[in-house]
Amino acid sequence: MSVTYDLDGQKKVYRIWARFYDKIYVGLLARAQREAVDAAVACGRDILEIGVGTGLTLPYFPADKRVVGVDLSEDMLRVAGQKVAERKLTAVTGLSVMDACRLGLPDEAFDAVTAQFVITLVPNPEQALDEMDRVLRPGGEIVISSRLVDSGGASAVFWSALAPLAKAVGWSTDFKVSRLTDWAERTGRYRTEHVGRGYFKVVRLKKLASRPA
Ligand SMILES: C[S@@+](CC[C@H](N)C(=O)[O-])C[C@H]1O[C@@H](n2cnc3c(N)ncnc32)[C@H](O)[C@@H]1O
Repeated sequence: MSVTYDLDGQKKVYRIWARFYDKIYVGLLARAQREAVDAAVACGRDILEIGVGTGLTLPYFPADKRVVGVDLSEDMLRVAGQKVAERKLTAVTGLSVMDACRLGLPDEAFDAVTAQFVITLVPNPEQALDEMDRVLRPGGEIVISSRLVDSGGASAVFWSALAPLAKAVGWSTDFKVSRLTDWAERTGRYRTEHVGRGYFKVVRLKKLASRPA
C-alpha cells in the first residue's frame, strides 16, 4: 500500500497494483471490509464507496442497494467494472474516476459513505471528510476502515516510532483514530458511533439529524 502524497504518483502506483491487488488483499482485508459494508447497508439504500479500487467490497452489497463507487485510478476501476459485469452485481449503479477531495456528486445524495483502506492515502484527509459530509444525508454515517492506531498508550508510541520505516516500504502505520474523531467533534454535527478494535479498524461517524442543543 502506497503512502505517496501526490495524485499523479498515486495513479501510477495503482496502475501497477491493479494487476495483482486482488491476489494479495482479498482475504487480508475481508473482515474489516465486510463489517464496514454491513454498517453502511444498515443506513439505507443509497451508498457511496470512495476509493472503491478493484471492487473487493462490491459483492457484499445486497441487490436492493444502490451503490456508486469512485476512485482516482482508472486502472483499478477497470478491474471493478469487470467484477460487476462478471458477477452481475446489480447493486452497483455507477463507477467513476474521482478524487476523494473533489467529489462531483450532489449534496446530501447518500445514506452512507464508506472509504475503505483509502483515508491514509489522501493528502488532506479532513478535506475528504468535508466532502463526505457534503454528500451525506443527515442521519447517515461515514464508515471508514483502514489501518488505524489508537491515540494513546504504549502501542501508539510503538507505531509512531515505526512510521518512517513503514513509509519506506509503502505502509502507513501512524494514522490515528483521533484524526477522524476530532474532525467529527469539530463539525458539531457528528457523533462517533463506533471505533473498532484490532489491526484494521472500522470507525463509524454518525451525522446527526439535527444539531445538538
Ligand atoms: C488500498 S486501495 C483500497 C481499495 C478498496 N477500497 C479495498 O478496500 O480493497 C486504495 C484505493 O484508493 C484509491 N485512492 C487513492 N487516493 C485517492 C483519492 N484521493 N481519491 C480517490 N481514490 C483514491 C487508489 O486508487 C486505490 O484504488
